[in-house]
Amino acid sequence: MESFLIKGGAPLHGEVTISGSKNAALPILAATLLTDEPCVIRRVPDLSDTRFMVQILQSLGATAEFENGTVTVHARKIKGYADYELVRKMRGSICIAGPLLARLRKARISLPGGCIIGARPINLHLKGFASLGVKTKIEGGYIDATVKKLVGNIMFLGGRAGPTVLGTANVMMAATLADGVTVIESAACEPEVVDVANFLNAMGAQIAGAGSPTITVTGVKKLHGAEYEVIPDRIEAATFLIAAGATNGEVTLRGARADHLRAVIDKLHEAGVAVERCGTNLIARRSGKLKPVDITTLPYSGFPTDVQAQMMSLLALAPGLSIITERIFESRFMHVSELARLGADIEIEGPSAIVKGGKPLSGAPVMASDLRASAALVIAGLAAKGTTQVNRIYHLDRGYEQMDAKLRKLGARIQRVEEK
Ligand code: EPZ
Repeated sequence: MESFLIKGGAPLHGEVTISGSKNAALPILAATLLTDEPCVIRRVPDLSDTRFMVQILQSLGATAEFENGTVTVHARKIKGYADYELVRKMRGSICIAGPLLARLRKARISLPGGCIIGARPINLHLKGFASLGVKTKIEGGYIDATVKKLVGNIMFLGGRAGPTVLGTANVMMAATLADGVTVIESAACEPEVVDVANFLNAMGAQIAGAGSPTITVTGVKKLHGAEYEVIPDRIEAATFLIAAGATNGEVTLRGARADHLRAVIDKLHEAGVAVERCGTNLIARRSGKLKPVDITTLPYSGFPTDVQAQMMSLLALAPGLSIITERIFESRFMHVSELARLGADIEIEGPSAIVKGGKPLSGAPVMASDLRASAALVIAGLAAKGTTQVNRIYHLDRGYEQMDAKLRKLGARIQRVEEK
C-alpha cells in the first residue's frame, strides 16, 4: 500500500487548477444510462471512484471510454444488474438504480455497505422509488427493484439528517421518464444535484427547481445523448484554500466556483484566512493570526460535512477553543485520534469536537481512515514540524486527482512512497 511522506513547514505558494467534481461526475456518469444515444462528459476527474463508475457502466453493457478527463458513453443496449464486486466497492454506485429503473423498469444492485463515517442507509432512495410505483425486495445483499410503469408523484425525501444528495439525484433521474409530474419536497440543494439536473435537461428532460428544496420533474418519453462539462470540485477547492491558510502561504485556485463555497469562505475569513476573487480565480492567504471559530456542518448552503475534517486541521493551529459539530454523519471524527498523534489537542463530546488550538504540530506516522480524513492529515502534515507519513493513501486517491503532484507544484515537500 502507498503512503505520503511529507516534510512539513513549507508555506504553499503558486497556482493550482481545480479538477472536476467527483460528487457531480458519479451521478452524471450514471445518468448516461438513460439514453441509447452517445454522451460525452468532460472534466471528469481521474480518480479510483470515477474509474469504478466507468467499469460499472461497462459491466452493464455500455461502451465507455475514459481519456484525458473526458468520458464517452454509449449505453445502446444495457442489462439491469451490475457486477456485485464492483458495485459493492463504491457506495456512489447506488445512483445507477434510478436510470436502470427508468430505462429497463428493473434494477438488481448490491446493497451499498456502510462506511467508516456512518451507516449510510438508502431508505430515502427506496421511499422515493416506491412513490413512483417501484416494488423493491432486499435479499441476499441485493436490492431487486421492478416497476410496471413509473408514474409521477409528490414525495417528501427529507431524513433524520435533512435531505439526501444521492437520493435526490437517484429519484430525479428515475422521474425523468415517468408518466406525469413528480415533485420532490425536501430535495437536496447541493451544486452537484444542480449539475445532474442541468445534464438531464441537456438530454431533453424537463426539470425545474434544482438547487431549491422543491424539484419538479415533468416526465418525457425519451432522452437523447448530450455533451456536458462537470462543475469544478468545491471540496477539493476548499481543501486547497485551507492548506494555504494552514501553511501560511498564498495560493491561487484556477477554476474554483466562489458561489459554491460561500459558507467555507465565510468561516475561513473568521478564522483569519482571507479568500478573494480575482476573475475566475480564488486567492487564499492569511489575513493575520489564526483565530478559533465554531462550525456546525449542515446541508447546503450550510458548512459542508466534506470539509469538516480539513477545517479541524486548520483550527488545531489556531490558539483558543474551536467547537466543530457534525450534524450530517454519525461518526465522522476518525481523524481526531490521528491528529492527536501530531500533537493536536482535541476532545470529542457527542456530536462535537472541542479543538484546543495553538499547540505546534510535530510530524509522526498517521493512518488515513476515509477520504476527507486523509486530506485533513495531509494538511496537518504540511503544517507540522518534521516528517509525517500518511499511510493508506488509497483513501485519498478515491477523491483527489494527483494531490501530491499538485501540492509539489505549490512547493510542498511531499512524496508518494510504498508503505514500509
Ligand atoms: C453525498 O453522499 C456525497 N457523496 C458525500 O460525500 C457527502 O458527504 C454527502 O452527500 C452529504 O453531503 C457523493 O455524492 C458520492 P446523503 P450521500 O444521502 O448522497 C442520511 C465525500 O467525502 N440518509 O446526502 O450518500 C445519511 O445517513 C462523500 O465526497 C438517510 O438517512 O449522502 C446521512 O446522515 C462522503 N437515508 C445524511 O442522510 C438515505 O436513504 C446525508 O446523506 C440516505 C441518506
